[in-house]
Parts: sequence; structure tokens; C-alpha cells
Amino acid sequence: MAMFQEFIQQNEDRDGVRFSWNLWPSSRLEATRLVVPVSCLFTPLKECPDLPPVQYEPVLCGRPNCRAVLNPLCQVDFRAKIWACNFCFQRNPFPPTYAGISEVNQPAELMPQFSTIEYIIQRGPPTPLIFLYVVDICLEEEDLQALKESLQMSLSLLPPNALVGLITFGRMVQVHELSCEGISKSYVFRGTKDLSAKQIQEMLGLMKPAPAGQPGRPPAAQEMQPTCRFLQPVHKVDMNLTDLLGELQRDPWPVSQGKRPLRSTGIALSIAVGLLEGTFPNTGARVMLFTGGPPTQGPGMVVGDELKTPIRSWHDIQKDNARHLKKATKYYEALANRAAANGHCIDIYACALDQTGLLEMKCCSNLTGGHIVMGDSFNTSLFKQTFQRVFSKDYNNEFRMAFGATLEVKTSRELKVSGAIGPCVSLNSKGPCVSENEMGVGGTSQWKVCSLNPSTTLAMYFEVVNQHNAPVPQGGRGAIQFVTQYQHSSTQRRIRVTTIARNWADVQSQMQHIESSFDQEASAVLMARLAVFRAESEEGPDVLRWLDRQLIRLCQKFGQFNKDDPASFRLSESLSLYPQFMFHLRRSPFLQVFNNSPDESSYYRHHFMRQDLTQSLIMIQPILYSYSFYGPPEPVLLDSSSILPDRILLMDTFFQLVIYHGETIAQWRKAGYQEMPEYENFKQLLQAPLDDAQEILQTRFPMPRYVDTEHGGSQARFLLSKVTSFALYKSLSCFNWRKESGAPILTDDVSLQVFMDHLKKLASTIIL
Ligand SMILES: *[C@@H]1O[C@H](CO)[C@@H](O)[C@H](O)[C@H]1NC(C)=O
Ligand SMILES: *[C@@H]1O[C@H](CO)[C@@H](O)[C@H](O)[C@H]1NC(C)=O
Ligand SMILES: *[C@@H]1O[C@H](CO)[C@@H](O)[C@H](O)[C@H]1NC(C)=O
Ligand SMILES: [Zn+2]
Repeated sequence: MAMFQEFIQQNEDRDGVRFSWNLWPSSRLEATRLVVPVSCLFTPLKECPDLPPVQYEPVLCGRPNCRAVLNPLCQVDFRAKIWACNFCFQRNPFPPTYAGISEVNQPAELMPQFSTIEYIIQRGPPTPLIFLYVVDICLEEEDLQALKESLQMSLSLLPPNALVGLITFGRMVQVHELSCEGISKSYVFRGTKDLSAKQIQEMLGLMKPAPAGQPGRPPAAQEMQPTCRFLQPVHKVDMNLTDLLGELQRDPWPVSQGKRPLRSTGIALSIAVGLLEGTFPNTGARVMLFTGGPPTQGPGMVVGDELKTPIRSWHDIQKDNARHLKKATKYYEALANRAAANGHCIDIYACALDQTGLLEMKCCSNLTGGHIVMGDSFNTSLFKQTFQRVFSKDYNNEFRMAFGATLEVKTSRELKVSGAIGPCVSLNSKGPCVSENEMGVGGTSQWKVCSLNPSTTLAMYFEVVNQHNAPVPQGGRGAIQFVTQYQHSSTQRRIRVTTIARNWADVQSQMQHIESSFDQEASAVLMARLAVFRAESEEGPDVLRWLDRQLIRLCQKFGQFNKDDPASFRLSESLSLYPQFMFHLRRSPFLQVFNNSPDESSYYRHHFMRQDLTQSLIMIQPILYSYSFYGPPEPVLLDSSSILPDRILLMDTFFQLVIYHGETIAQWRKAGYQEMPEYENFKQLLQAPLDDAQEILQTRFPMPRYVDTEHGGSQARFLLSKVTSFALYKSLSCFNWRKESGAPILTDDVSLQVFMDHLKKLASTIIL
């Protein structure tokens, strides 16, 4: 157990990989019996200070349908200068540049500590990064003012060579020409009429004759790089653009009583996508949409402009009463797919008190790896700081953003890849290691991730295909290689290669080993991603039932119990926390939608589907810390019994950070004891959670909502809604036998204790 923990940690630090199982069941049949699939969380660009990139190209296996990259697991014959591919067993000669290698003179990619290695590729002309701001001018005056300031500030954070552009929209859509001299022009489009990419490019005068490369000569760089008056280098136009932003006015069209402003978000995005498509395909670019309300006209409209018609709720959606939902979603999906095909990403910064249509628009960010940030107003530190953090830099002083990535997975023969869940689209690359059994986005061994940062994490699912009667040889190892090609923020092309292996284990004789190789944290997140992925298309209760069934099966498989004696039920250390994670997941906003608006649910799910393991676990099971005079701060149970008068609590749900002062503490604070020198210790106690909260507020993306409240405070509900209550113990309501489906489900509002009791009963008595 301890041994595996160390191993797991090492692998995460070095390779950004966490597997559900760290020994793999050696046949398909045995694998399915383990309930949780062989799968992993993979963070392709995990920040590794010990990973200096090498300045040459990777060596590839010569077999055309393999092309795996030379790695530390390959057998090497140094005398014959030949290496054997560990995926297809092809024997490959080393390239001539490797003539000098020997046992004592090995290239980095053969050394075990370089199971992850990054190559810098010196090919093709450097391409600039592109930032296209798409700004809603139907905002309230205060919001518009604050947003203008944030946008002006951001110009100083962009890489100086980056290209920048500006589109504004209200009732009309304006594309601003950025020139360094003279009066700037803008092109105005109606917000109601959809235009094809070609029409947009024609109207903006972007149509250029086909590159006049003479036969036998590739076109020169200048011929390939269209100059574009709408996208200019920041260092040339920042002064003028600062002025232009400063002069932006609210949409001049009057909005009459009882109406919403006419907002042409759909057309604005369509023009942004078309503009980039026509000028910079396959170049790293961010479309950054800033909006303060729902699209109300034209294609992509989410709600009409009559205020008396409210925007759709979950209730409307369930009753099939959301008029614009399907059409709008389809419209934005089509735009998102076009952007993804060109390697462009779309961010959405939506700040408003009411919904803005994230449900319909989320695919724009989901499919392109863009950010979604949701807040009440642009004049909040939540938005301002989060937006600044988009441009944060790493320890090498380079931007934490990468573009146009393709992730390819190669597997050894006993395995195939079933799919991926994360901010990616399929590249439909069929091949020998693609499983027919799809999980998530499957049917391919390559995915495109248009934008990613060091914490972007994909869930990858695998299928063991080895047949039961064809066991893998004892001591054999299965291997997986991840090849991530991307445009670094320095605009270099880079290839990062991670090659990992795990031992095969025979379930009959090595069950205990397999069990102790279980990574319950990773598994909880991996199963949660499957559940949330299902929840996007299936009914809530069906998803919960599926999740419960998996949990019960897992407990049956690994629990120690005497038949029909729930009290005897035990789980070993390596699984002991797993049911608790599932308990919290069932109650989480990722699976329970009715306490949230459709936009909020979309927002929560969006972030859950891309964060790394640590952040994902906080989202599943919020952390509660207690501060008191009786000892150092300590984590306490997420339960109402943890709320005591003489305690301060700090709750972190990822999206919210809540400080809650217990009744007595709140009274003392009101009485001002912290001001008196003799109560210095009380002052310190009050300060401790503030300091800890500050640390989180300063690093997290997006910045969480910060709530400082106390016993009886109106904002205490943020805490109370998360803690469960033993006091509300209703022992009978927990478990219903659903006659129609014959499957057991656990009802929602029970305490962990009740949940566990019922789980034990189900696991020890029911045959699924
Ligand atoms: C933004 O909020 C701050 C503090 O709430 C306020 O002082 C400021 O005037 C606001 N900005 C604008 C443009 O209204
Ligand atoms: C851009 O800036 C230059 C120099 O600061 C100025 O002469 C020019 O008029 C500006 N152009 C616009 C469109 O504001
Ligand atoms: C992201 O897009 C994929 C593919 O359309 C979809 O299946 C998935 O549910 C989406 N995820 C979220 C969180 O919206
Ligand atoms: Zn090969």
C-alpha cells in the first residue's frame, strides 16, 4: 500500500499521469469484473521544472501504422545500433546522427528519468499568437467601464508580437479596423442575418488571390501570411487600441420599457470565427467573448427580447418548453466545430446577475479548450483577477497557454483506447489501438485540444483486449505512449512524449496486489467524469442509478463480509475512501441540477471536465477546515456536526471559499476583543483562516467567490447547503426498490452514515 502511494505520487510528478489501477488485470474478462476500467487522468503539459526540452526531433518507429517514439522502455542493441519498438516489436536502425551512442553515452530519451520528454521542433516560420476580443456593448455603464479598463490593462500583458483584434456587438456587429495612422474605420453587420465564412471574408475584403507560388517553388512566407487590417501586432497598435477601447460607448439603440437589449452574440461569434478562419487557419488564436446577457436576436438567440418571457429553466427544459434551446445549441456547436477544425479556441467571460446562455454556448469553449468564467459583474475582483490570470506566466517567464495541440495515444497489443473525456474533439483517426467499445469521445486514437494550460487534464479510458485463455506471459508489462504536439506560447512547435508501463497481474493469484494498486482518488474522478458525461445526455436518475450500481458492484468485489451480515462489511485501506467520494459526488452540483440554473450547471460541469486530480477532488468533496483555540487548524467532516460556536470554519468547494464564524466567535468579534492587546491570540485566530483563504484566492483559476459570514448570517447558506446533517437522519427513505427497473437506487438527501449503512446492506445481500 505505502509502496504504491509513493509510486503513484512519483508518476504524477514526473509524467502527469494517475491510473485507476497500477497493476493491470491480464484479460478482458477479469478487467470487466474489476468494475472501474483501466483508465487514467493525464495532464499533457504538467509543469515539470526538471524537464529541460531537447532541441532535436523524436526518433520514430519505422512501421507505418505504429510510428511510436523511441523511449526508455525500448530494447537497444548498442553495438548493432538497433532499437526494438516496445509497441510493435519492429527492429529499427538508429538514424545516422546517433552513430556515437553506447551504454555510457545514451541520448536523453533512453534514460528512465525521461519517461516524459519534450522536443522543440525547428520547422516552418514562427507564427504569432492571436487574441480577438469580442465585446458586448449592451452592458450597464458600470460594467462597460470596468470591462474597458480590464481590456486596456490586458494589452500590456499580451506578448508584444501577438496580433490583436476587436469586434463589438449590440444590435449591430462592428468589426474594427486597427490602423496605426489616420482615422480608424469599422465594418458594420446586421445582427440578424447569418453569413457564410466566404461572405464574411468578402465583405471584410479579405479575399486574396490564391498564393502565386510559381510551379516548383513553395510560396514565400510573406505570400502565406495574409496581412489583415483587423488583426495587428500589439506593439504597433496598443496606443490606438487603448484609445479606441476608452471611447467605446454603450449601444446607442434605445431599449424600450419591458424589453431586453438586442444582443447579436451569435453573429458576432460567427464573424470572429469566419475572420480567423479566412486569415489564420491552424494558428494559435483565442476568441475572447465578453458578454453581460443572453443573445436575444438572430441565429443563436437564446431568449426573445420581451422581459416578461424569462430565460429557460431546468423545469422548462424538462417539460420540453425551451423554445430556442435546440436551435441555438446546434448553431453554436457548428461554430465551435469550425473553430476547432482551425485550431482556434473560444473563451466566454459572462458576467451578469441573470443567465447569459452558457448552456447553449458552452460547446464553444468545451470543444475548443477555451475558458468559461462566470460572475455577477465585470466590476468585481472575481472577474478582474481571473482575467489577469489568463495571462499568467510560468517559472520560465512564459505564458501558461498552448495552442493547437493534438494528443495521440499508442498502446501495446493487449490494450486498446476506448475514448477521452475533456476539452477535446475527435480527429477520427482509426488504427490498430482503437477500441470499438467507446467511452467518452471514442473511435479514435487522436484528439485535438485547441487550447490548453499546465493544469488541463483529460480522462483516458482503455480496454484490456487480451483473451482469458491467452494469458500474457508472467512478468510482462503493458505500455501506453502519449504524444502531444502543440504550439508553445513562444510559438515554437513542440512535441511532448510520455511513455508509461504497468505490470500485468493475474486476478486469481494476485488479487490482493491488484487491490492495493487501486488509486481511489483517481478512480473517483475518472468515474465521476463518466457520470457527468452521461448526465449531459441521459436523465439524472438514470445516471445516479448507474453510479450506484458501479459502487455496489465494486464493494461486492472487494468488500470483506459474511453473506447477509452487513455489520461485518469491511473495505481495505486502498478502497476505504471511495464510497465517501461517491456519496459526495451524488449530491454535487455536477449531478444534481435542480438547485442551480442551467447556466450554473453548465459552468460547474465545464470546469469539472478539465481540472487536474487535486482540484477535481475538492469539487467532488469540498474541504472543511476548523480553526479553534484547542489546537492547530484541522480538516473536519463535511457535516453539520462540525459547526460549533467556538470554531471558525473555512470551506473550499473550488467555486466558493466560505469563512464561517461560529456563534461565540461571532459575538466576541462583534464585541471587538480582537482590538484589545490582551486578546492578541483571538486576533490571530481570526486572521489564520483569512491568510489561508488568501493563498487560495491568489492562485486558483477561476478565482472563487469569496464569502465571509457567521452564525445566523444571510450568506451562511453557502456553508449550510453543503454540509449534511446527521440530525435529519431518516433511515427508511434511503433506499427504494424501483419496481419498474428492478434496480436499486439510493435517494438523495441522506447522511453519509445512512448512505454507508445502506451500501453495506446492498453490497452484502443483492446480486446485481
Ligand atoms: C466598481 O466598484 C467599485 C467598488 O464597488 C466602485 O467604487 C466603482 O465606482 C465601480 N466602478 C464603476 C465604473 O462604477
Ligand atoms: C494612432 O496613434 C497615432 C500616434 O499616437 C496618432 O497620430 C493617430 O492619429 C492615432 N490613430 C487613431 C486612429 O487614433
Ligand atoms: C463537451 O462536449 C462533448 C462533445 O460534444 C459532450 O459530449 C460533453 O458532454 C461536453 N461536456 C460538457 C461539460 O459540456
Ligand atoms: Zn512500432
